[in-house]
Amino acid sequence: MSNAPSSPAAKARASRAAPLHGSFAAPGDKSVSHRALILGALAHGSTRIRGLLESDDVLATARAMSALGAGIQRDQIETGVWTVQGCSGRFVAPSEPLDFGNSGTGARLTMGAVAGAGISAQFIGDDSLSSRPMRRILDPLEAMGVKAGSRDGRLPVILEGAQLTAIDYSPPIASAQVKSAVLLAGLGAAGETIVRESRLTRDHTEKMLRLFGAELTVEPESSGGAVIRLAGPQSLTAAELTVPGDPSSAAFAAVAALICPGSSITIRNVMTNPARTGLYRVLERMGAAIRFDNSGTAAGETVAGLSVRASRLQAIDLEPDIAPDMIDEYPVLAVACAFAKGTSRLRGLHELRAKESDRLAATHALLVASGVEAQIEGDDLIIVGADTVRGGAAIHTHGDHRIAMAALVLGTAAEQPVIADQAGMIATSYPGFTGDMNRTGAMIEALP
Ligand code: S3P
Repeated sequence: MSNAPSSPAAKARASRAAPLHGSFAAPGDKSVSHRALILGALAHGSTRIRGLLESDDVLATARAMSALGAGIQRDQIETGVWTVQGCSGRFVAPSEPLDFGNSGTGARLTMGAVAGAGISAQFIGDDSLSSRPMRRILDPLEAMGVKAGSRDGRLPVILEGAQLTAIDYSPPIASAQVKSAVLLAGLGAAGETIVRESRLTRDHTEKMLRLFGAELTVEPESSGGAVIRLAGPQSLTAAELTVPGDPSSAAFAAVAALICPGSSITIRNVMTNPARTGLYRVLERMGAAIRFDNSGTAAGETVAGLSVRASRLQAIDLEPDIAPDMIDEYPVLAVACAFAKGTSRLRGLHELRAKESDRLAATHALLVASGVEAQIEGDDLIIVGADTVRGGAAIHTHGDHRIAMAALVLGTAAEQPVIADQAGMIATSYPGFTGDMNRTGAMIEALP
């Protein structure tokens, strides 16, 4: 079976699988793919990208870069090979609103990239994106001199370009999207832009800026944060890069293999940036048989093969400060906890409420509907693990790709099948999900 849901509203069903075996390559990383297109569009010259994730979110960013004047071309023969003819820092005003669909990363990073372009642009998205907070981006950009119009800090947002001035900014939340938007705006600002992170977040923007010839410094702080300085204005030069595989997407098959007895799988080409591999460290603490080997590099990031064997997991009491290293992996970690011995407590999950859905509520509801004992206490999720999980539920995914994939992973190991609604939304981040899972022996099918 490799029948991926064909429309966003399509449902999918996962039934209990025999042990999972075999290997596949992780799809291109979503965060790195957005950044490759955006930096390529800002740069001078022609950027060649291999392994680009061709998911709905990334394609929305590609269309936005094209509307801003970059030349965007997909290779006719080879999947994932794209060429971006950059605008040398001179975006043109788009004739229509830039539609980012479901993608917070695309919208927020592009706001930073266009801030200093001296043009006016309108940002729109789907219902989910239009309900998510944008003040976290608009506040620092306004402090740099941008004029922003929004409905209550949400999309649609209109940005009026301006001559930007650098700021010294301490983001109130640990967010790579906020950091990245400020740094990208800093490229066009006069003076030294400083971002002071109290807790490190994924640093793909910093790494990729260097790949495109930018100069910036990153000083780690003993408190666990970092100070990033970028003197503007600076221009970027086109680059050649290969997108590493996405550890957030690999997480689904990895957890499925852990909870399906007798399984043993390998996922090739998984990015091992420590700001992205929190889930794997946590699973190891829970007793998971996980190994990274055969390491290499791609786009300035380290990659490795990930081998996973089914394991008897132990519950975990998880500290809140690891959240930025695994922020997108909590729904699938919660599924692992449902199969672990003992009661887990995942602490400090308030940021999950601001994702594609209220992921704290949606994850809790997914567990309870599947017969798992779980509670929310403040910002903590408490999960009582068991040897067997009933399943047998139809899950409301709220159009959230990661809730849909977590539900289908649970269904792969539960006693009764699990149905996820709006499973077509999985294509926002991982269009090959059903194919990759089923290649290892999972039984996921699209429903009419
Ligand atoms: C992302 C950062 C994270 C993450 C998102 C992608 C990025 O968001 O949830 O899926 O590419 O920078 P925050 O940095 O806002 O937590």
